[in-house]
Amino acid sequence: MSHLTVVHHPLVQHKLSLMRRVETPSNQFRQLLREISHLLAYEVTRDLPMTTREIETPLQKMDAPVLDGKKLALVSILRAGNGLLDGVLELIPSARVGFVGLYRDEETLKPVQYYFKAPEGMNERVVIAVDPMLATGNSSVAAIDLLKKAGATNIKFLCLLAAPEGVARMKDAHPDVQIVTASLDEKLNDLGYIVPGLGDAGDRMYGTK
Ligand code: URA
Repeated sequence: MSHLTVVHHPLVQHKLSLMRRVETPSNQFRQLLREISHLLAYEVTRDLPMTTREIETPLQKMDAPVLDGKKLALVSILRAGNGLLDGVLELIPSARVGFVGLYRDEETLKPVQYYFKAPEGMNERVVIAVDPMLATGNSSVAAIDLLKKAGATNIKFLCLLAAPEGVARMKDAHPDVQIVTASLDEKLNDLGYIVPGLGDAGDRMYGTK
């Protein structure tokens, strides 16, 4: 399995282009993020552990494949992570959910933790951390550090956009964490924003700024 998976599917790319447009309003941005999160969830969950359960079709009994759903945790990196979380949770409603609150100090670009809550039994779960933007990688690495401290050993990172700098930083700090994204963008600018990017994901989602 590759450390980085870019989902090139036409629907993902089309919706992402709509999200990037500066004139796309918050309500459409959120709706598109929700739709893309379903498509990205398909990719990030492709090797989830399965089990079987005996069911009865109208014709006969069978051992049917089902998700080993109790063993999954979704962790939203606040606040923008919630936009991806909602969509993924619609597809996997039985997943447990955790939250990591980190904000980026605008001068140092370093993450500052203000909240952490994880489900029990993190060591037994496939953990999918979600954050739309993998920029410098500082917050993502700090979030994964916290999840590992809480016992997680099987972690995936789902984002909408990634910068090469963030991917490299994650690979260096957490080579075991697979990253799934809709786009590997060009670079970071001097303010730590992804370019061409889509701006501040939280502001775009919630109309703040
Ligand atoms: N966070 C964002 O919301 N956007 C960026 O471009 C970088 C970090």
